[in-house]
Parts: sequence; structure tokens; C-alpha cells
Amino acid sequence: MVKQTMVFGHRGYPAKFPENSLAGFTYAVEHQIEGLEFDVHLTKDSVPVIMHDEKINRTTDGKGYIQDYTLAELRQFKLANGDPVPTLAEFLKLVANQEVQLNLEFKTDKIQYPNIERIVMGMVHATPLRHPVIFSSFHLPTIKRCQALAPDELYCWLTDKRVKDPVDFVRQEHLAGLHLSHYQDGVPVVERIWTVDSVRQAKRLFQDHVAGIFTDDFVTMMALKRELLD
Ligand code: G3P
Ligand code: MG
Repeated sequence: MVKQTMVFGHRGYPAKFPENSLAGFTYAVEHQIEGLEFDVHLTKDSVPVIMHDEKINRTTDGKGYIQDYTLAELRQFKLANGDPVPTLAEFLKLVANQEVQLNLEFKTDKIQYPNIERIVMGMVHATPLRHPVIFSSFHLPTIKRCQALAPDELYCWLTDKRVKDPVDFVRQEHLAGLHLSHYQDGVPVVERIWTVDSVRQAKRLFQDHVAGIFTDDFVTMMALKRELLD
């Protein structure tokens, strides 16, 4: 049987909820989302929290860098729906024993948070999950550090550049695949593409059976996928 493309909610369900919010993740899990992508940073007191940017300015009512706040300080600020910034612990509690496939992105390309790999992997390993987590990062040294701690996990490199010799690269870096902003057609490696919000692009990717897409509107993309399968 030909493998189907997995639909990942990119930062949850940002078409309807604040991105990377517990409200969006909860809705997605309750509506049988296939996959969830989310971004992880560390607070000043080394607590993993979920947010896209290094700074809280764009998505909360506060200002400044996540790394400059303790969790207690960070929790005073609110997302657009009034929720606090979610912790990884809260998120893992929500998805424990659920069918959803997780993609945890280490947001370490601009700031290297001390020990983030060990802290995050330890929490994930302590959670009962139905599927192995896919770990991704734009920052290859982060992936290398994770591989040293847990060599058998699934690691994917994120890039917005064209990858030269993807088959060799994936083999040399012991990767499970590539997460790309531009589809590299006809390459025999696992590819997941972000951020796919155009129906036309999604149709092509579904028809080509790429491994996954990351989308801001998983409801629309799941409906399209069902339509194409009928
Ligand atoms: O994991 C895919 C995508 O999330 C990577 O880009 O900047 O949205 O985290 P970004
Ligand atoms: Mg991301």
C-alpha cells in the first residue's frame, strides 16, 4: 500500500487558536489531528516552554526574551486568548497515550539553551506516548547532541535551502528525514514540507505521497486529503 501523507498542525491550529497554545493543541487532539508540530525553548530556570519566537513580543502581552524570565515570571504574560505560555510538561500531559504523532522542534538556531537536549529528552522519555516523537531542528549541532544522548530516536533536519545530495546527507547525519520549505521532487528520502496552506500545493504533495505536510489549518487539509482518497 502506498504511504499516505501525514498532516501536521503547524504550531497547533493557528487558523483558529493562538499558535502554540494549549487551547489549539487541545482542540486538535480532540478532533483527531494526525500530527502536531510545536517549538521548544528554555526559561531562565531551565523549564521547557512552547513558543515559536525567542522573544515573547509577538505572541503575548509582554516583551523580552524567554531566556530572561523564570517560569513564574513568564506565566504573568498572556497569549491572545488569555492563556499563559504553555510548558512542555502541560503539553505532554495532554498528548500522553493519544494517537497523535508529535514533532518537537528545538528552537536553538539563534540561542543555544544550556542542556536543553538532556532536559527535553528526559521529559519525553518519561511520558507514555503511542508513537516515537520526531525531533527536529534547524541547528544541526542540537541534533548531534540529541543523537549522542539517544541514538535510536527519529531526527530530522530543518532547512529553507535546497539540500545537495539529500540521500548522502541523510545517511551521513543518521537522520530519519528532512523537513523542507521547498519540496525536492523525486528524491528518495523522507521529506516533510512546511508551511503548506495552499490547496493546490497540498494536492500535489498528497498525490506525490510525501511523508508529511505542516499546515496552519489542519481541518482544511484533512478534508482535502479525505476528498482525494475517496
Ligand atoms: O517544523 C516546521 C516549521 O515549524 C519550521 O519553521 O519557523 O515555523 O518553526 P518554523
Ligand atoms: Mg516550528
